[in-house]
Amino acid sequence: MDNFIFHIPTKAYFGKGQIKNLGKAIKANGGAKVLLGYGGGSIKKNGIFAQIVDQLNAEGINYVEFKGIQPNPHIESVEQGMTLYHEEACDFILAVGGGSVIDTCKAVSIGVVYDGPVLDLLLGKEVPKQAAPLGSVLTMAGTGSEMDQAAVISVGKQHKKKALIHEKLFPRFSILDPEYTFTVPEYHSMAGCADILCHLMEQYFAPECGADVQDGMNEGLMRVVLERTPQILENPRDYNARASIMWASSMALTGFHLRLGKPTANSRLHMIGHELSSMYDMTHGVTLALLTPAWMRQTISKAPEYLPLFARFARNVMNIREANDAIAAKTGIEKLSQFYKRIGMPTNLSEAGVRENDLKIIANRAVENGQLGCLYAIGKNEVLSILQDAY
Ligand code: NZQ
Ligand code: ZN
Repeated sequence: MDNFIFHIPTKAYFGKGQIKNLGKAIKANGGAKVLLGYGGGSIKKNGIFAQIVDQLNAEGINYVEFKGIQPNPHIESVEQGMTLYHEEACDFILAVGGGSVIDTCKAVSIGVVYDGPVLDLLLGKEVPKQAAPLGSVLTMAGTGSEMDQAAVISVGKQHKKKALIHEKLFPRFSILDPEYTFTVPEYHSMAGCADILCHLMEQYFAPECGADVQDGMNEGLMRVVLERTPQILENPRDYNARASIMWASSMALTGFHLRLGKPTANSRLHMIGHELSSMYDMTHGVTLALLTPAWMRQTISKAPEYLPLFARFARNVMNIREANDAIAAKTGIEKLSQFYKRIGMPTNLSEAGVRENDLKIIANRAVENGQLGCLYAIGKNEVLSILQDAY
């Protein structure tokens, strides 16, 4: 296992009623005038907005609304938030929503203290040296943005997704109340669970290096997601199921602690999934559910030396009782496909509305920044094979 540094600067307030800490947490981070970022308005319907305003009023904190952040957010939204932040002389950013809102606000937080176009930072031309203080109130579990150091923003006419990863992007704090996720529509709840599972799998499937703690925790988290997701489908107000999924979302990516010390490479499925979102505005978690089984089948066929790893996944996570590695791995993948189907994910790219003619374009774009993968090299031909398998 390689050396690593582990540091999570985000303070998590987890559980029912933790919103009571909001005002004090903002003040502790120097906030007096808040840019309050949110999405299309779900927080006004489900009462979260009113609870937040009560807390701000109680502490005498002013705020200005930065509304209308859309899923798969675009840089224009970031620029709008930056303008508002400056015009209203804000000194704190509060992101209330899922990954799209939190990511947009994170980009605003580095953009408002950077002396140049925020695009420079998103494209990696310049490194963020500072960030305005930011806190989040999570309303949808999945991306892990609430406790991680990433922000994914689409840029340009093709809506190319740029994932910026930098320690300045960790929120100062996040309020994680599972009850806030009761109202997330079923499709988005399930897509969020598929996203968590993919984050875990992308860190799990790497060459063996003795990272027993990371792999053992990862298997435990994957089992939790597989067990709890259908319970949310059954009863969206199941507190313990929502709580387990929310914490799994945060734990899957925070400080990337499950992949530290492991020879993982570029998230292979995410890079391909982002192209599907760019081209079809497809929900993030759905793209990953569509691609994962195909990627697994392709890996076993192209790098059979990793069959034991997939057999271990099948036994330890998918609960397959089978001594033969090849049969175990195959059965595990089939069971995973059934899981995605059961939670309402489309079963193939064609059903999801992807045009066959676009597969080559998607494959080319997915590897624009280089090959993907750490079990075998995934160039454009390999991406195309995955896409064709998933079609
Ligand atoms: O906009 P509103 O009206 O709030 O509705 C949202 C949105 O339509 C709705 N929603 C959220 N909480 C709700 C709710 N509806 C009712 N009740 C609630 N409590 O859910 C819809 C989807 O929200 P969105 O934020 O887009 O979903 P998600 O959390 O999946 O975020 C996806 C974005 O995060 C990026 C993705 O690429 C995508 O752009 N990612 C960010 C990552 C990170 N920062 O680490 C990693 C991920 O891999 C991912 O790439
Ligand atoms: Zn993701």
